[in-house]
Amino acid sequence: MSELERIRRRQDLEAYRALSWEGSFADYLRLLKEDPRPLRTSFQRVHDMILAQGVEEYTLFREKLLHYRFFDDPFEGGKDAIFGLDKPLMRLVATLKAAAHRLGPERRILLLHGPVGSAKSTIARLLKKGLEAYSRTEEGRLYTFYWKTEEGPLPCPMHEEPLHLLPKELREEFLAELRALHPAYPYPLEVEGDLCPVCRFQMREALARHGGDLAAVLEEEIVVKRLVLSEKDRVGIGTFQPKDEKNQDATELTGDINYRKVAIYGSDSDPRAFNFDGELNIANRGLVEFIEILKLDVAFLYDLLTASQEHKIKSKKFAQTDIDEIVLGHTNEPEYRKLQANEYMEALRDRTIKIDVPYILRVSDEVKIYQRDFAKVRGKHIAPHTLEMAATWAVLTRLEPPKRAGLTLMQKLKLYDGRLLPGWTEEAVRELMAETKREGLEGISPRYIQDKISNVLVTSEEPCINPFMVMNELEEGLKHHSLISDEKTKERYKALLQEVKAEYAEIVKNEVQRAIAADEEALNRLFHNYIDHVKAYVLGEKVKNPYTGAPEPPNERLMRSIEERIEIPESRKDDFRREIMNYIGALALEGRQFTYKDNDRLRRALELKLFEDQKDTIRLSALVSGVVDPETQAKIDVVKARLIRDYGYCEHCAGGVLEFAASLFARSER
Ligand SMILES: Nc1ncnc2c1ncn2[C@@H]1O[C@H](COP(=O)(O)OP(=O)(O)OP(=O)(O)O)[C@@H](O)[C@H]1O
Ligand SMILES: [Mg+2]
Repeated sequence: MSELERIRRRQDLEAYRALSWEGSFADYLRLLKEDPRPLRTSFQRVHDMILAQGVEEYTLFREKLLHYRFFDDPFEGGKDAIFGLDKPLMRLVATLKAAAHRLGPERRILLLHGPVGSAKSTIARLLKKGLEAYSRTEEGRLYTFYWKTEEGPLPCPMHEEPLHLLPKELREEFLAELRALHPAYPYPLEVEGDLCPVCRFQMREALARHGGDLAAVLEEEIVVKRLVLSEKDRVGIGTFQPKDEKNQDATELTGDINYRKVAIYGSDSDPRAFNFDGELNIANRGLVEFIEILKLDVAFLYDLLTASQEHKIKSKKFAQTDIDEIVLGHTNEPEYRKLQANEYMEALRDRTIKIDVPYILRVSDEVKIYQRDFAKVRGKHIAPHTLEMAATWAVLTRLEPPKRAGLTLMQKLKLYDGRLLPGWTEEAVRELMAETKREGLEGISPRYIQDKISNVLVTSEEPCINPFMVMNELEEGLKHHSLISDEKTKERYKALLQEVKAEYAEIVKNEVQRAIAADEEALNRLFHNYIDHVKAYVLGEKVKNPYTGAPEPPNERLMRSIEERIEIPESRKDDFRREIMNYIGALALEGRQFTYKDNDRLRRALELKLFEDQKDTIRLSALVSGVVDPETQAKIDVVKARLIRDYGYCEHCAGGVLEFAASLFARSER
């Protein structure tokens, strides 16, 4: 197949044709009668666009939550996926829904507010990306029009809805017809707004040419066409970022006089001599994002407030122009607090709907960010727990200290993450969450962690990066962290890093213990032995001595040596043994056989027992002293191979972690 042929086959010509659809005004009316959805307002369209990707319901700490798949970024394979923010996103979608039904929020600025690096821009980017994709689908299509003129097609500069061409009364008649045809249509079927100054001018001239015959104008001078929203082409999607505070110009929002054309048309109030290309103009039908909205000069604030409240903008020298677009601003927490007492804020606050976008508070969600960013890194291995430890520290810095006596911050972090702690119910965790005031609005941002991890990745000469390298980098970076100026906070963050190191040591100990004990055969032997004795104990029977064949009482020392590993006190041993027997009985009823893998606690106890029995023969301590005889080396290599096979270590970090574990075991024995 030639290259060109391949290109031709890959192109979707049918889609191209659909997207470049053009037709007469009458065609358009017919099309609307079949499906009036192209008439949706920007809020309605965006709301439907989010729902179109589907939604999952789940419960977390006994609370029903919704996860909108839209925010997984199906458009770019998860590149901008949002993790762990289902609650704020539910608020956002609820607000869009209310706006779609014209209950009020459609007249407000939506303000995403949160600490730096909390995914505000990512959310805005997703919405914009989604709109582009949705406008290309059959379901999400919308239309605009152009004028046929002698100089060629003259598109409406604000790509407005073709029904604006119908005066109010005629339009209302047509809409009434649509409502009758589609009684189940989910939104109010209305079309607000009138022609933009350019089209108004064209209409006046065209009517004069046709002796006032609107039907003739529509038939002969108007072509309706499909509208594809695109940020790059500045169609339906706009972005505004205030530069420095003194250097802002209203024309960026509402357009500017085209002086070259003033010379042609002779007047600066001739719409043909004006570029209706401000950010608010071009974003018509879609969405305009205001980055750092609070840095906007007061002079433009009013443009913005009218844009959202009245759905109108005022360009120099022209009457107000109708718009239909979502105004989405964002601001970070420090900026917001700085301006809280300001009058400017007063005006804004009254007309905005603030949606808090906090930091993630669950480690397992936070870690997804770094997995997405770094999992595909080539040529360098990332040791197990590296990303998880960085995420743990980040979340620790964000948590408010628990008020309950005896609950540590690390324990609270685990509870939030859905891990079980004795004595804690889901209900209690939920109360714990409710106690907090500003949790998630302060702390270390994902961006800081991302930067530090990528630093380590590029500067380290080792084949593999590990949690210590990253934690050291995180600590080093605190010295010149531009956003944390006070020493007390820095000290606190450093102390938290120590806690993460301690946590990591525990994890490593555990993992190496398990790897040493990961001898299935030995575990099975130990398990069957234990069960034989427990069974005899519970039933008051004897056990046959495997050597002499003589019946003997169950071996208490054997059973306790296992149970003690998981801290089952003498007084509770009967319960534990009976529990195990019941479990075996229940499984037997289902025709299943009990294995040691069926009960996590028992499994752990067996592993620990086996570890205790074997650790002296493996002599990890040799690793610390540096003298390793061949026999020990062979045993160590077996453990290393298990770490690589089962736990994601590489040749390099498996050796490192074994040495670290050896030093930990040596310390705990001293
Ligand atoms: N909840 C989250 N889910 C997924 N990624 C996140 C989340 N929070 C932060 N990130 C990641 O952190 C980085 C910073 O996010 P983003 O730029 O959207 O933050 P922001 O809130 O706009 O920050 P700023 O206030 O500094 O503008 C991005 O790489 C983003 O993917
Ligand atoms: Mg941002």
